[in-house]
Amino acid sequence: MHASKRFSGRYETILWFTKTDNYIFNLDAVRAPQKYPQKKYFKGLRIGEFSCNPLGKNPSDIWDIPNVKNNHVEKTIHPCQFPIELVERLVLALTNENDLVFDPFLGAGSTSAAAVKNNRRGMGCEIVEEYYDIAVERTKLAMEGKLKTRPMNKPIYDPKNPKLSLEYELEEASRQFLLFNGAVQ
Ligand SMILES: C[S@@+](CC[C@H](N)C(=O)[O-])C[C@H]1O[C@@H](n2cnc3c(N)ncnc32)[C@H](O)[C@@H]1O
Repeated sequence: MHASKRFSGRYETILWFTKTDNYIFNLDAVRAPQKYPQKKYFKGLRIGEFSCNPLGKNPSDIWDIPNVKNNHVEKTIHPCQFPIELVERLVLALTNENDLVFDPFLGAGSTSAAAVKNNRRGMGCEIVEEYYDIAVERTKLAMEGKLKTRPMNKPIYDPKNPKLSLEYELEEASRQFLLFNGAVQ
């Protein structure tokens, strides 16, 4: 992360292979919020209808997700753990509930935690015992709904536009309030 003899790495490459053309892709599960969700057609045959998908937009193949630095809520002693929200988007889009998600290089267990958090089953290998123990602990916490994670779709804090983060916090607080009071599912 703190490279001094090359440009510091800031992206992950995701390779996605399928055995057949009949593969799982749950787009609705990972749609990103629209910029203007309430915008409607103002003329033409579809006047009055929403002009964009109210469920959100396709998140595209470029995702802006903060890496796990020291002040990140998910930080463990592992030097290169994935943010859960990165794996979570893959788990939700590319698997169904109860599917088995396998990670041969578990590290701090971000994949298995993301899997069980979303009602999938997690499985994996980790050669370093210390990391293995962390992976097991985080997966257990995720199963119990106690693992602290940075939420998917939370905008990255921009000091030049703090309003965006504030709007997100307010929307989230109101969603939690409605959930708590049984108003929405
Ligand atoms: C890049 S890290 C994975 C980090 C993980 N994605 C996370 O979010 O924490 C790769 C991990 O693979 C483990 N590893 C390397 N060789 C291995 C092997 N042969 N079998 C199992 N684990 C191995 C390393 O110890 C390291 O923790």
